[in-house]
Amino acid sequence: MTSTTTDDRATVTSVQLTQGTEAPSVSDRVRRFLAETPPPTPCLVIDLETVRRRFAEVSSALPEAGIYYAVKANPAPEVVRALAALGCSFDVASPAEIDLCLAEGAAPETISYSNPIKKAAQVAYAYARGVRMYACDSEADLDNLAAHAPGSSVFCRTLLRDKGSIYPFGRKFGCEPEMVVELLARAVELGLDASGVSFHVGSQQLDPAGWDSGIATAAEIAAALRDRGVELTSLNLGGGLPASYRTQAPPLAEYGAAIRAAVARSFGEHRPRLMIEPGRSIVGEAGVLRSEVVLVSRKSYRDDTRWVFLDVGKYGGLVETEGEAIAYPVLTSRDGGPTGPVVLAGPTCDGDDVLYQHTHYELPLDLAAGDHVDILSTGAYTASYSSVEFNGFEPLRTYCVDGAE
Ligand SMILES: Cc1ncc(COP(=O)(O)O)c(C=O)c1O
Repeated sequence: MTSTTTDDRATVTSVQLTQGTEAPSVSDRVRRFLAETPPPTPCLVIDLETVRRRFAEVSSALPEAGIYYAVKANPAPEVVRALAALGCSFDVASPAEIDLCLAEGAAPETISYSNPIKKAAQVAYAYARGVRMYACDSEADLDNLAAHAPGSSVFCRTLLRDKGSIYPFGRKFGCEPEMVVELLARAVELGLDASGVSFHVGSQQLDPAGWDSGIATAAEIAAALRDRGVELTSLNLGGGLPASYRTQAPPLAEYGAAIRAAVARSFGEHRPRLMIEPGRSIVGEAGVLRSEVVLVSRKSYRDDTRWVFLDVGKYGGLVETEGEAIAYPVLTSRDGGPTGPVVLAGPTCDGDDVLYQHTHYELPLDLAAGDHVDILSTGAYTASYSSVEFNGFEPLRTYCVDGAE
């Protein structure tokens, strides 16, 4: 087994699951790493073999699609390197993510700059580094692309009324379909390659049919452009494929079948090349966040509910507990004995730094300061969201483990 840390500066026994679901597990590799070379807590441990397995699962669910890993989900260089070695492509949102992908072995033609919000200088930088695929949703960005990334392929992002996801994107990205038609027609006039439509159904999309309306909208846009002599070649299905947390997500194969059927229904004989940009579904289940109990307390002598304060909270990377949207499975070093209800909270002096007070969690009654609490399925949107140094707490460190079980 090899392990590396991505920043120069998790023994486990109860998974709490909604009834009828299968427990996410800690691989032997991660278990051994945490037992033999325990790093200071809190820390995120990524199992690279799980990353590879999930990449293979997404590929086999949708073999006809190019897979562009959304680097923002987890930018650990080891993750990017492992995926590049498997022939994965990359969805990036900034020059720094481009540099990271190139440094870890990605070819520039496998990189899609999918953030529609970018400065002219950032476009120019991306183009200079060889990136030739961009998403846009505005005239101003299109003009920047024509000026600073001449001849590049452009996706225009359409707005959707997204339903079924835990994290809908609202109206920040994309524009109305009739504007997409105009922007793509204009892209051709500006000498760009009008490649196709992109959309995002919202992250952690729990409905495999959640892509249907975006695919139908994209087909209408493609038909309107065909009437104007512009033939779109591709369709970018964005992110949204789920990971399993306390609740098991539907199998990825169901998503592949639903997407394939929707493309056939909506596009008929004009089938586009497909691209998908999974983030969470590839790295989410690969992560275990090892934390330590700082303090266990009660708010009154009559309270059954204990407050368990961990050395990681919202600002240390568990941002997706906001609104208690994601309920992570939790294991402790004292599992096995009697348990009681807890509120889980982070270590900072911020009143919002509470992880779960409405979602029911039970932890061992003898849990005490110094015990470990391992938070599972934390590979996505944790380390990349952790604050730089709020209240003096350093950013979440990532360790990647690899090799035989
Ligand atoms: C353009 C784009 N593609 C893909 C993703 C990844 O989404 P997910 O993690 O739900 O797969 C995101 C997430 O923010 C995104 O903005």
